[in-house]
Amino acid sequence: MRDRRVMAEALLDWYDQHARVMPWRVGPSERAEGVRPDPYAVWMSEVMLQQTTVAAVRDYFTRFMTLWPRVHDLAAAEDARVMGEWAGLGYYARARNLLKCAREVSGPLNGVFPDTLDGLRALPGVGPYTAAAIAAIAFDRCETVVDGNVERVMARLFAITDPMPGSKPALRAVAEQLTPDRRPGDYAQAVMDLGATICTPKSPACGICPWREDCGARAAGIAATLPARTPKTPKPVRHGIAYVGQRDDGAWLVETRPERGLLGGMLGWPGAEWGATAKVAPPVAADWRDPGGEVRHTFTHFHLRLGVRVARLPLSCTPERGYFVETLAPSDLPTVMRKAFDLARGEMGGDMGAMD
Ligand code: ADE
Repeated sequence: MRDRRVMAEALLDWYDQHARVMPWRVGPSERAEGVRPDPYAVWMSEVMLQQTTVAAVRDYFTRFMTLWPRVHDLAAAEDARVMGEWAGLGYYARARNLLKCAREVSGPLNGVFPDTLDGLRALPGVGPYTAAAIAAIAFDRCETVVDGNVERVMARLFAITDPMPGSKPALRAVAEQLTPDRRPGDYAQAVMDLGATICTPKSPACGICPWREDCGARAAGIAATLPARTPKTPKPVRHGIAYVGQRDDGAWLVETRPERGLLGGMLGWPGAEWGATAKVAPPVAADWRDPGGEVRHTFTHFHLRLGVRVARLPLSCTPERGYFVETLAPSDLPTVMRKAFDLARGEMGGDMGAMD
């Protein structure tokens, strides 16, 4: 393996030629001309990219930056509007923290993002990974960014065969040793790009890798097998029922999910307590009909099978749970609740109308 500074330079040379273009990114040539990234844009992208792919984030990022171009704009936005625009990205606690953080930066911090790891970590929704990414990318601090891509690259480069997640500290340690003082922001993004485009999970393109002559796993012929993992336990299946009710005046019966927990703060159809069996009482007595079929949705820790019931509700009804909203757009709902509506729609027929 070459000297670590030589290796960092080799990777940066590769990045100068091959950096992926992303709407939040200041590419290497612009950076060389002195263009600095907007910390607000870097922060927004990194929060969106937590547990979500670049492909899924692209359009959301562009939309958020169009709607709220500066941190003060986002801080002044209505919570429900931001939650609605976030619908589909998942992990909704991120959206609530996004707003909390925007308000903290816009108010107490006078619109200025902290530029140190500790300062960034103190912000809502900014953990060690995101703080390191913002510090490196937005402020060129010499911080090491370790995500799944970086772990894979390091496991291969150093031929670390111990399984994940136990090997994480060792992978971080070698990643830190390799991080250069020069261009740490570009370097952080270069390792991510290498992992996403060359050192890919299944068939890595070792022949064109800037680190091919340094790579222990390539020399041993085991690149594609790393990082090793202890086998996963399968996700459990949970069941539930979503009650899609529409009152005779067109209003929809919905509930706001508790702030804490899954889909926290989002709108949903009543009846969404999910457990081993689908036994959830309806929110109000009515002629609830089963349109057949079920919604399938996978969350981080379980698969959900959600039955759907639909009913028309008289104006006089007084539900035990939930409340009526006069208008409801699909974008107000998280994906799983939209899927339930799509299933219900067939049963409701034309006379019941549809959402906006
Ligand atoms: N994943 C998380 N942050 C990223 C970034 N800045 N560029 C590419 N992929 C990422």
